[in-house]
Amino acid sequence: MEILQHFDVIVVGAGLAGMRAALEIDPDLRVAVVSKVYPVRSHSVAAQGGINAAIDPEDKWQDHAFDTIKGSDYLADQDAAELMCEDAPRVVYEMEHWGTIFSRRPDGRIAQRSFGGQGYPRACYAADKTGRALYQTLFEQSIRRQITVLKEFFVVSIATAHGQVAGVVCIEIRTGTVVGLAAKSVIIATGGAGMMYARTTNPYINSGDGMAMAYRAGVPLKDMEFIQFHPTTLPGMNVLITEGARGEGAYLYNRDHERFMERYAPKLMEVAPRDIVSRAIETEISEGRGFDGDYVLLDLRHLGENIIKHRLSEIYDFALTYKGINPIYEPIPVQPGQHYMMGGIATDKHGATELPGLYAAGECAAVSVHGANRLGANSLLDTLVFGRQAGIQASQFVRKNPGVDFPSADLTRQQDMISRVKAAGRREPYGAIRRELRETMTQYVGTFRDEPRLTKALKTVRALQDRYAEAGIQDQGDVFNYDLLAYIETGFLLDLAEIVTVGALARKESRGAHARIDYPDRDDAQFLRHFLFTPDGRRDEPVVITHYQPKERKY
Ligand code: FUM
Repeated sequence: MEILQHFDVIVVGAGLAGMRAALEIDPDLRVAVVSKVYPVRSHSVAAQGGINAAIDPEDKWQDHAFDTIKGSDYLADQDAAELMCEDAPRVVYEMEHWGTIFSRRPDGRIAQRSFGGQGYPRACYAADKTGRALYQTLFEQSIRRQITVLKEFFVVSIATAHGQVAGVVCIEIRTGTVVGLAAKSVIIATGGAGMMYARTTNPYINSGDGMAMAYRAGVPLKDMEFIQFHPTTLPGMNVLITEGARGEGAYLYNRDHERFMERYAPKLMEVAPRDIVSRAIETEISEGRGFDGDYVLLDLRHLGENIIKHRLSEIYDFALTYKGINPIYEPIPVQPGQHYMMGGIATDKHGATELPGLYAAGECAAVSVHGANRLGANSLLDTLVFGRQAGIQASQFVRKNPGVDFPSADLTRQQDMISRVKAAGRREPYGAIRRELRETMTQYVGTFRDEPRLTKALKTVRALQDRYAEAGIQDQGDVFNYDLLAYIETGFLLDLAEIVTVGALARKESRGAHARIDYPDRDDAQFLRHFLFTPDGRRDEPVVITHYQPKERKY
């Protein structure tokens, strides 16, 4: 156990939001980015289809804001959505000037494609590897700025003292040492918690660490019941098949060879928002018009070899590698899979949480710009806009606050926990608990929900929490003990799964991605509000409305 170092600002998470935040910290301040993986393995690099910005002279950021708010089923805070959409063109040009190589139109301008729920083709893209292109740029900038990155340090708790943030406690994965990083300000940018689901586009690292740590530190989590299911993932491993494919013109077919989206969104068809397309696919499958009771088909063939190989090259590779399907000649099987969390750590529109000195940005935060349903290609934008906001705010906080002493008892507590779970050994292996959790959430807290299924899920999650309290790990070592990491991550996921389910039960309406078959309508009179959860319970907050009065969503 040791206190490694003192910093002004610690950024937890080295994806796009974290890196962007770190780049915004005043250069004379001591900043470190802490990541449980090598930074280039952060999930941001998996983002495919694009980043929205109204850069075309015929497009307007106000239209982007309207599409975002309508897409959110009017649960987005409109002032935050406006901030994001107004800033979007600046963000795209900043990234381009820093070195991002976007795909181009024949006249040399940045290429843009259609994406779900957008009234204009405004997703700027780098083929179908947009996240990787943006990330590479920020990674290069972090090297140029000589930003300290503590790689393979697993942050396990947020330290607080005298009502403000004091730093973080982490485990150095290489040695197993419990380490305290003292800081005047902490920015959480740890991404989502897709590992809560068995069917997810997320990687193993997305275990909701930052959200769960904030919650345990008493910081509210907001709108957690809103889970996004991406309509098109590859059955089996649920690798993402970008919405950009439908943006380029791909069709969805059922086994009767119908373009079934005609029934669900006659105007926008395949480029309707994700919540609508996912429900449409699930309905087709459950009513017997899917294939093998499990998937529908995404047909790219009419796009031709040139578009498939150049604008959708990763999709081409994925289909060929994982399914042995060449999309130039054959349609791709697709099914919905968990993809994103609209909810997260409650922040204001500048990334500040209720805990002085603590900020959050990216998927782990709920600003809230996505409300009940995020539009595709708004998440990369969110990371860069609000990562920057959080960096600005953290710098200002540090200037005004001398900081508090790091509570060294937090290190002892962590060390005691490790000793306890090692001693618990084989009694109850956590792996089975994690598997049951993921299956339960997929089966009962999915695209369609109702009281009996949610009640069953909650009962199961709580029973799993009880078993987890008695569980342990088999690896007794210190070096690269991934057994220990996965055990801790499972605890985070269990906390979050309970909040998601409690929120879903309490929200007796259907809004965006939260579809209750027992309450099929949106109920603005009762539920046009955010749910905020802390360990002390729930409180509600009004949605910020600026210019756009809630209306029925039609596409
Ligand atoms: O389909 C996609 O390319 C995903 C984009 C997003 O989640 O924003």
